[in-house]
Order: sequence, then C-alpha cells, then structure tokens
Amino acid sequence: MLSLGIEGTAHTFGIGIVDDQGNILADVRKTYTPPSGKGIIPSEAKKHHESVANEVLEEALKEAGVEMKDINIISYSTGPGLPPPLLFTAKFSVELAKKNSIEIIPVHHGIAHIEIGRLLTKCFDPVVVYLSGGHNAILAFTGDTYKIFGETLDVTIGNLFDTVARELNLEMPGGPKIEELAKKGKYIRLPYSVKGMDVSFTGIQTVVSRLIKEGFRKEDIAFSLQETCFAMLTEVTERALAHTEKNEVLLVGGVAANKRLQEMMDIMCKERNAKVYVVPMKYAGDNGVMIAWTGMLAYKKGLKLEVKDLIKPKWRIDEVKWFI
Ligand code: ATP
Ligand code: FE2
Repeated sequence: MLSLGIEGTAHTFGIGIVDDQGNILADVRKTYTPPSGKGIIPSEAKKHHESVANEVLEEALKEAGVEMKDINIISYSTGPGLPPPLLFTAKFSVELAKKNSIEIIPVHHGIAHIEIGRLLTKCFDPVVVYLSGGHNAILAFTGDTYKIFGETLDVTIGNLFDTVARELNLEMPGGPKIEELAKKGKYIRLPYSVKGMDVSFTGIQTVVSRLIKEGFRKEDIAFSLQETCFAMLTEVTERALAHTEKNEVLLVGGVAANKRLQEMMDIMCKERNAKVYVVPMKYAGDNGVMIAWTGMLAYKKGLKLEVKDLIKPKWRIDEVKWFI
C-alpha cells in the first residue's frame, strides 16, 4: 500500500511517497528562497509552489518507480501555515485525488514532524521538543492528543537565533552560524526567563541587541545565547519528563540540529535514566515524506480527520484526535 504526501505550508513544496511499513520510496522538494535579508513573502511562496508542483510530482513518481494508479491515498499539509501556499497546496492535492479517484487525507504539519521523528528514531512515547522558526513547543502524548506542556510566550528560538544572526551580519539561516561562533565564546550573563513550563525570549533579544551595538565579541554573544536559551529549554523539558513520567525525549525541527542543545538534553536525560533521540537532519526540515507517513498512520487507524475547511492556517496540534 502506498501513500503520497504533499507538503506546502511555507517555503518548501515537497512530495514524498512511502509504503505502509514506513519505507521511503520518494522524497522530492523545491524551496522558495526570499530575497536576501528578508522574511518569507506568502504570495511569492504560493507562486513558487504553483510553478514547481507538476515537476515535483513527476519527479517523485519517477523516483519511486510508480504511476498514479499505484497510489492508494493522498495526504496534504492542511495547516498550520501561511494561507496562500496552504491554499494552493490544498487545491492541488484535492484535484489530484479527484482526478485519480484516490482518497484524500488532511494532515497536521506539526504531527507530521513528530511522526517522522518517531518512525526514523524508533522511539515510542517521547516528550517532544519541537523547535523551529515557526514552533517552540514541549509536547507529549496524553489521552488522545499531543498535548502542549510548554510554549514560548513570545518569539520562537529559531526566530530569535535568526534575528540575532541578522544583527551580527551572518548568513541565513542563522542557527548554524551561531553554533559555529559559539565554539570560541565566553559567557556573558543574559536574562533567564522560565515561567512554569513556558519560556520567554524577548528579554534576551533586547539585551543581545544592546550588546551587539556596544561591540561585544560575536563569539561571546553566540555562546551566551546558546547556553542561556538551551538551559531554559532543558529545564522545561526535564519538568515535562517528571510530570509525564516518560523516559524518552525526541528533538524535532531545524534547531534540533544543534549539537550543544543535544548535549545539554543528553546530560539531563542521563541523570534521569531517560534517552534522547534526534530526528535525522535530512528529515528535520519540511518535506513531503512526513506528510505521506502521517497520512498513512491516520488511514491505517481509520482516523479520518474531519476537515470541513480546505486549509487550517492556525490549526493547533492538541485539537487533533490522535494515537500512538
Ligand atoms: P516550521 O514550519 O516547522 O516551523 P521552519 O520553517 O522554521 O519550520 P525548520 O527547518 O524546521 O523550518 O527550522 C529552521 C530554523 O532552525 C531556523 O531558524 C534556523 O536558524 C534554525 N537552525 C537550523 N540549524 C540550526 C542549528 N545548528 N542551531 C540552531 N538553530 C538552527
Ligand atoms: Fe515545518
């Protein structure tokens, strides 16, 4: 049985094909890059997706060595995301399904990031630390949803790192550059702000902007930024582990690539007899494979997610009835 998944919530348009055992048969992606120094322009992302969609589909089928008639289900990223690219992706997916009389399954983008992590790391019931440009959440499966235990009260860590990187005139995305600089840095005290299970980064952002203007060393700023933010995130993850009595941590999203974050989470987990899993880098960013696999899981469990709306730009993960 084959599932074809279509991702298009933001900058990436991707199509993946997987079988019901989780084998990946195709993974094709094309990414819109905003003008340098600028953020994503939603209408441009939509235009980009429109211009590459058929090509990506053809390439994916070719890579898997299959035709549309071999596909059993089509899944698409219904939300959360930016309305223009979401709408294009939804229409493209629905049309494709209709034309080929294939069942269509809506997929939550955040759940897809988690499920591809569970599939590829083989962890079972983790506290999930989802850190990217768009997300900053500590989650765990309880009852019949992924419940959000902690969030950011303001900006996400991905945005914070990118903003600081821009102020330091580093290349985008800023996270990897900050990680590199931090290796040669010394500690400067920054505001540490944890409120219950939530974190807040705007205080850090303000102080770091001032330090940059005052001419502090880039390396010291990068090091202090990492140490402070990751300590805050490790603290709330530990609290989530204690609260849920789980013994696995799964890091997903682009920031999960950071080795210092992985190391701090690892030290904390070892002290608690827990284990850290990190989504393989290739599947940390947006891709169609994660959508295809999540659609497959939903289909196999008979979980027909009811979506009255074609897209759900603000879809919260804990609104989705799920299972593990
Ligand atoms: P989503 O739509 O799921 O929110 P996204 O569009 O932000 O995801 P991702 O690829 O998941 O895309 O995450 C990108 C973010 O990850 C950027 O902010 C980038 O700076 C950050 N990042 C990437 N590598 C590292 C790293 N090594 N250390 C810290 N941050 C990193
Ligand atoms: Fe994403």
